[in-house]
Amino acid sequence: MQNVFQGRSLLAEKDFTKEELMYFIDFSAHLKDMKKKGIPHRYLEGKNIALLFEKASTRTRSAFTVAAIDLGAHPEYLGKDDIQIGKKESVEDTAKVLGGMFDGIEFRGFKQENVELLAKYSGVPVWNGLTDEWHPTQMIADYLTLKENFGTLENLTLAYVGDGRNNVANSLLVTGAILGVNVRIVSPESLFPDQELIDLAREFGNGSGAEILITADVNEGVKGADALYTDVWVSMGEEDKFAERVNLLKPYQINMKMMKATGKDETILLHCLPAFHDTETEYGKMVKENFGEVEMEVTDEVFRSKHARQFDQAENRMHSIKAIMAATLGNLFIPRV
Ligand code: CP
Ligand code: NVA
Repeated sequence: MQNVFQGRSLLAEKDFTKEELMYFIDFSAHLKDMKKKGIPHRYLEGKNIALLFEKASTRTRSAFTVAAIDLGAHPEYLGKDDIQIGKKESVEDTAKVLGGMFDGIEFRGFKQENVELLAKYSGVPVWNGLTDEWHPTQMIADYLTLKENFGTLENLTLAYVGDGRNNVANSLLVTGAILGVNVRIVSPESLFPDQELIDLAREFGNGSGAEILITADVNEGVKGADALYTDVWVSMGEEDKFAERVNLLKPYQINMKMMKATGKDETILLHCLPAFHDTETEYGKMVKENFGEVEMEVTDEVFRSKHARQFDQAENRMHSIKAIMAATLGNLFIPRV
């Protein structure tokens, strides 16, 4: 019996049902448990995985590498300066070549169109490791972290505060809407998600019961939230926007005052990382020098507080990417979900 995941790509969350996304989340928890108990799970023995990166990465690259090896597969890192893609060879031709050699392909880059072309022409599962538009593998780890914390995703409310139109915000909004988690995007109006995306999320929300709120009002947005989520104010590829964003997003920094404004002591902090919570980075130092700010999207106090779950999230990237690769490539017995 062929399972419903076999051979499929994960390009964007909107292509998956609530049950399918829940399967990824629960399978990730199972694989995490197996890993902690030292039980082997080499479902991809002998397979070869290509890891294409146009943008930098710590977590996604490490997670795909370790997950592939734990599954018995061989991961091969192909950075932007290592291969011909884009410069001397089209994405279509590259897809055909890689598809003839590899059993699965991860792609991190700029254009969503390119990850779609890879899936169209390679003939093997392609996993989106982040584009300008979406960050779907991150979502399985994030909603797993929420479920681990609260035991369930039912009736939870996640408030994403900051740049409301980046890849992570887009993915959180649509994934939450599919899963039935209430999602609030709290950002200045000029950084609200595209209307098309809000409409899509509302449509999913009508089916799942998720309430969607897009607001510039911080108090309205965070009140009663079970999780406050933030991301960098300037995403990869937008590095010329620091001045504009630092000024615009300062009122949207997650600090203790905002944590308290949720009205709940048990609210957790989520962050996909990397985070600017101090001046220990080049950009952190540059922002301090130019704008006098020593913290950006989250204060160091909150980052190191009892609310913080961002390093659980980071670890969960590995378990969830393992689940995604095994389910789509491992010929597993998965009864209808
Ligand atoms: N969260 C995330 O995708 O991190 P990296 O950019 O380090 O992969
Ligand atoms: N929005 C961020 C996410 C990094 C994981 C970026 O695209 O740089």
